[in-house]
Amino acid sequence: MSEPLIVKKMEGPVAVLQLNRPHVLNALNLALMDELVEQLKQLQADQDVRCIILTGNHKAFAAGADIDEMAGVSLAEMKMRNQFMLWDLIPRFTKPLIAAVQGYALGGGCELAMSCDLIIASEKAVFGQPEINLGAMPGAGGAQRLVKAMGKARAMAYLLTGRSFTAQEAYECGLVTKVVPDELVLEEAKKLALEIAHKAPVAATLIKEAVYKALDTPTQVGMDFERNAFYMCFGTEDCREGMKAFQEKRKPSFKGR
Ligand code: HXC
Repeated sequence: MSEPLIVKKMEGPVAVLQLNRPHVLNALNLALMDELVEQLKQLQADQDVRCIILTGNHKAFAAGADIDEMAGVSLAEMKMRNQFMLWDLIPRFTKPLIAAVQGYALGGGCELAMSCDLIIASEKAVFGQPEINLGAMPGAGGAQRLVKAMGKARAMAYLLTGRSFTAQEAYECGLVTKVVPDELVLEEAKKLALEIAHKAPVAATLIKEAVYKALDTPTQVGMDFERNAFYMCFGTEDCREGMKAFQEKRKPSFKGR
């Protein structure tokens, strides 16, 4: 039997999904993206899962979309592949998703990391959108998200030159949550995932949505969403438990309802 494209490991309420095409630096082919979304759907439905980590290996998170699978494809075929339907689902999963990035996160790999809610990066990680070197450009949100993270001036330069940038620069512009020594990436991601996993899940989901509203809509639209999301928290048992636990000077126990 061939190796799975995604290796799943459960660690309590945290699921770790590892991209598993090491011979091509985890190049993202259609089958892998299909499998990734399938795994996320299953984890979404699993009540015991509170947070998900997406990772690669020490050499590559992912070195981009699979060039061999794209080479020679016509415009019509590319359009009809409709591959971005799957990509667009990734930030829509409601559970917090952390990218643990070591090595290359290039092209689609950088876009995949940026589609996650949080990024923990190795100090040796290499980010970039080198598609211009292939006569192409980002398609899974690279141009949009890079501009929003680092501003037009720097994003434009990286997109037009295809040059890569360091984890430290990604951190300084707010693209990356934390930069850590290479060997600590997964450990740090798990620590963060566990911390989030013990918070109230419905509130976590609503916070995620509110943050994306801030990025994607005018302020007042985001504000209106945020207010309603705040009210929604008061319809959960977890909100009553959280406040009661505070008053009783004990740790809350959140159930996700
Ligand atoms: C297919 C890839 C690949 C990719 C690496 N490989 N990246 N195969 N698609 N994106 C393969 C190589 O062909 C090689 O296979 C093996 O992985 C190891 O790669 P090397 O190049 O030998 O490694 P190294 O010299 O260390 O160079 C690493 C690298 C380089 C700098 C990351 O591999 C590279 O430039 N890769 C392409 C990066 C890129 O352009 N990404 C953007 C793709 S377009 P063999 O068989 O020779 O051992 C894109 C569009 C996104 O992502 C749009 C949304 C879907």
